Amino acid sequence: MIQTFSDGYLLSTKSTSYAIFIAENGKAVSAYYGPKIPAQLPSLLASCPSNVGPVAPGSFCSEERQACEFSLPLRGDYHIPSIILETEDSSVFDFRFQKGEIRVPNALCDLPTPHGASEELVLTFVCQFLGIVMELHYLVFEESDVIARNVVIRNHTEKELHIQKAMSYQLAFANHDDILLSNYGSWAHEAIREEIPLPHARVSFGSINGWTSNRHNSFFAVKEKSTSKTDGNIYGFHLLWSGNYEISIERDSFDMLRIQGGIDSTLFDKALKKGESFETPWGILAYSAKGEQGLSLLFQHFVKEHILPPLAREKTQPIVYNNFDATGFTFDENKIHSLMDKASDLGIETFVLDDGWFEGRKDDRHALGDWIEDKKRLPHGLKGLADYSASRGMSFGIWMEPEMVCEDSHLYQEHPDWIVRDPSLTPYQAHGEWTLDLRKKEVQDDVIATIERVLSVSNATFLKWDCNRALSDAPLTTKNGSFYYDYIVGLYRVLGHIRKNHPNLWMEACASGGNRFDLGVLSYFTSCWLSDDTDFYERSLIQSSLSLGYPISAFSNHVTLHRSNIMHRYGTLDSRYDVAFFGLLGYELDFDKLTTQEYQTIKEQIRDYKQQRHLIKDGDFYLIEAFDPSNDSTFEVTNGKEAVVSKLIRLINPTPAERRLRLKGLEEGALYSYRNRQERPTEEGKENEALLSEIDEGEAYGASFLSIGVPLAKQWNADSATGKEAYLSDFSGRLYFLKKKE
Ligand code: GLA
Repeated sequence: MIQTFSDGYLLSTKSTSYAIFIAENGKAVSAYYGPKIPAQLPSLLASCPSNVGPVAPGSFCSEERQACEFSLPLRGDYHIPSIILETEDSSVFDFRFQKGEIRVPNALCDLPTPHGASEELVLTFVCQFLGIVMELHYLVFEESDVIARNVVIRNHTEKELHIQKAMSYQLAFANHDDILLSNYGSWAHEAIREEIPLPHARVSFGSINGWTSNRHNSFFAVKEKSTSKTDGNIYGFHLLWSGNYEISIERDSFDMLRIQGGIDSTLFDKALKKGESFETPWGILAYSAKGEQGLSLLFQHFVKEHILPPLAREKTQPIVYNNFDATGFTFDENKIHSLMDKASDLGIETFVLDDGWFEGRKDDRHALGDWIEDKKRLPHGLKGLADYSASRGMSFGIWMEPEMVCEDSHLYQEHPDWIVRDPSLTPYQAHGEWTLDLRKKEVQDDVIATIERVLSVSNATFLKWDCNRALSDAPLTTKNGSFYYDYIVGLYRVLGHIRKNHPNLWMEACASGGNRFDLGVLSYFTSCWLSDDTDFYERSLIQSSLSLGYPISAFSNHVTLHRSNIMHRYGTLDSRYDVAFFGLLGYELDFDKLTTQEYQTIKEQIRDYKQQRHLIKDGDFYLIEAFDPSNDSTFEVTNGKEAVVSKLIRLINPTPAERRLRLKGLEEGALYSYRNRQERPTEEGKENEALLSEIDEGEAYGASFLSIGVPLAKQWNADSATGKEAYLSDFSGRLYFLKKKE
């Protein structure tokens, strides 16, 4: 709900309120963001007491102490500005409030917009150069407790207006002990959680590699020092954006925090001619009084309801097999047929053919761009494989890297001017490839036509869209200072077209793993391959960190070889499954090389997943405990009636602590039965039936699970061997299934 007061606006969701005070100097001020306020009083400031009241007339540099919703430099506000503008003859701008309008939400034209908002508030500000207008847009998602915010700048003057910085959101509040919680990383080591107390300084992170990048996810949170997992104030921030971005947090001497996020400004300059306008991506803001778990639940619901395409909401993604880890680039039709035979028998539902299916692709440095089936390897082409897959009861999926091109392709030979480059330099190749300039309409159209052709030839119902290099050599001049912005808008046009034409196409985003994982991507794709690292321990950390801001139903998780190709750390098939279970399950190992026992194990894993996978799509995920900093990790997904829990261990201990199932989201008064999956703790590849794990089962009330926890079979140690203990080893765990008794 949005309420208008004589002195401002109050945006209310189910449990939160966001107040914007319109100050006497015409500025919009962050007056309040926190637990819901009844707002029965006639004035905003009386309803939400705050110290943002009128600034004394004539006081020096009065804007310095205002907690502004947007800010410009050179007018007495010495914090980081959120908007920087310039015309040929001016760099000092001042915007004052003109009007506020509450309306039915209007989708912006070029950028992804969260769907299903109940109302929109548009605050309009005009500049002293009448004709330059700035609008702050707010979307309210009542049920999800989320506010979306963006900025639109319109130039109606004769002068060319340069936008050098335009942050999507800016929020300010005062506190003295806030902590920034964010996820940094790199290839195969994505989303490493880090907490830092915010100093009296400017803290900033972002990306200038063209994508949101694996260096830092654009999702982050700010919480108080005292905020725990389940209790206390925490604010979460997202951007619906997949390109360069910038997050800045400034804490001043008065302990006021100014938090802003939007497209990166270091490599940005957008020129607006008369009549043109510019819109920033949407920023997403959320507040929870229930600590990290509260924020995580809130974002899980929001992303599922308002970001992901309808397909992901309405249907269950099939269990996939992907051949990349098994074959790399070395496969032929016979090999794929053999893998398909086994995949089908094991219960796989979609067979995804990864890289290497097109002419000239002998390794990952060649032949991107033409996308012609390699009939030497695959004499019956993609259609032949799709038919074979269908005859085995599976649908077919295909890998593409549509934005890139290699030098030895016909596409490049015919259109050397289509790649991203500055005419004066030879552009850098990365991963043996160049990037197609998706700002150009003819390039967008060609990419769309190519994807359409491949989808049609292959009958694919699943598209894995890769992006294996970062951008370089962008021709940034004052004429096209918005290159990075325009590229992503072009990408969104292509994605929007494919999504619209193929509403039932499962689309997995991949950028060498998680180099482009954000809410912009999830507006089109149904899932994301989070990392090329599938090691049990590393992957569980990545999933833990990202679960604070994303639903696990967007995570594409594959069980791979005992030793992942990144870490070479040994892990049992079951322990890898225990982690992969919490997302969209897939397999990526050579089914032709399995022992009889491994084959059987995978069959059972897939059978068990099928019985519980509705929880991945519709249940609530709780990160009960993460490996970092603990030795244990506990994941739970539940709808209140059923639950699946993984309890994983890093290093076993000769004097193990008691193991208990302490859970969330269950009904206190309900009785639940529980039972573990029996795991096969294979040792160094040797299957040993005698090592089949314990059966741990029983019944307990929700109240016990929710409070002190339900004791589990003791961990085996030399002291207590009775034969009934849980035989756990380093980097292993157990999965437990709970069901409410009627
Ligand atoms: C990237 C992806 C992998 C695989 C290869 C193919 O590295 O992350 O999963 O698709 O490309 O070249």
